[in-house]
Amino acid sequence: MKTHKLALIPGDGIGVDVTDATMQVLNATANRFGFALACETFPWSCEYYLKHGAMMPEEGIETLRNFDAIYLGAVGWPASVPDAVSLHGLLLPIRKAFNLYANIRPHRLLPGVEGPLKSQGFDILCIRENTEGEYSGAGGRVHQGQDNEVAVETSVFTRRGIERILRFAFEQARGRRKHLTSVTKSNAQKYSMVFWDEITRELAREYPDVTVAHMHIDAMAAKMVMAPDELDVVVASNLFGDILTDLGAAIQGGLGFAASANIGPDRLGPSMFEPVHGSAPDIAGKDIANPIAAIWSGAMMLEHLGESQAAAAVLKAIETTTAKGIGIRPGSHSTNEITAAIVAELGD
Ligand code: NAD
Ligand code: IPM
Ligand code: MN
Repeated sequence: MKTHKLALIPGDGIGVDVTDATMQVLNATANRFGFALACETFPWSCEYYLKHGAMMPEEGIETLRNFDAIYLGAVGWPASVPDAVSLHGLLLPIRKAFNLYANIRPHRLLPGVEGPLKSQGFDILCIRENTEGEYSGAGGRVHQGQDNEVAVETSVFTRRGIERILRFAFEQARGRRKHLTSVTKSNAQKYSMVFWDEITRELAREYPDVTVAHMHIDAMAAKMVMAPDELDVVVASNLFGDILTDLGAAIQGGLGFAASANIGPDRLGPSMFEPVHGSAPDIAGKDIANPIAAIWSGAMMLEHLGESQAAAAVLKAIETTTAKGIGIRPGSHSTNEITAAIVAELGD
């Protein structure tokens, strides 16, 4: 029997609940489709940090390298560990270490879910650059606490980094409605974003079958609400993509619906799958987190592992569940009820 080795990092808050929900669904799927999941769980989290002084052990990245995929719930518990410490100690180093440069975030309305835009069609694929740009970590602070204090956060964009994410997005557009919208802010950011626009134009010549639109991030935010049906694949830098995908999640009906895959060149290590949302301290421990974003991310992981039929079955089980009105609005069903309904759909 084919066995996939998974590293599970439930993390903090609702990360733990939604990882548990996802594994119930994935194990049911594995049974039905005849493969095995060999999971090892790593307790790396803010709680771990408080005990050990680090979010993961020194050899954490090397430990993860041997797995076929990483599944992560959510990281962050700002009441006890500053976010800049927890995220720079776990999630962001994993994305960088394995060169997980493409963050794929599908946004579409599931059957039965209205979303705030109601009548509009909504089905877009956001491709977010995931390793450089505004998240490069370059910068510093001087004269701390004084009147003349200055903080600098430098965005680093490389030709290689821009080219590979754009190429990835063009390829995705080829597999969909063949329309790519590249999002920048080249009217204000005259180095990095003009550079990005230039490379987009260069690459567009290699993809004559894909139509390309250039949009500024501010206008794009409005378009996602006013005319989302004019969008197909959307590509953006690390920070712009981060913001647009919470907007995408909101249009889907909430953070509990948005899935993501962090994909890299496999030879460097495993890819990582996680919902778009965070640890949601406001609802943690209440059994009300929507597990659908996490379970959908699990389906993306199965697809990546080559289990396409199983991935499609999980997505179909999610859709059948929401079509029945289960999990479609906050508070209507518990985490466990939604999970059980999806598992039941997967039964033989
Ligand atoms: P968040 O995504 O955790 O929560 C934002 C809002 O959405 C909250 O009101 C929350 O209750 C709601 N929400 C989120 N997921 C939900 C779900 N599955 N079902 C129902 N409602 C849901 O964002 P935040 O509050 O800005 O961040 C909380 C912590 O998570 C911070 O430490 C932050 O840095 C971290 N964070 C981590 C990740 C990650 O690990 N990938 C992503 C985003 C935020
Ligand atoms: C996400 C999150 C992270 C990001 C944070 C927690 C660092 O918001 O995955 O969308 O900005 O990448
Ligand atoms: Mn985010």
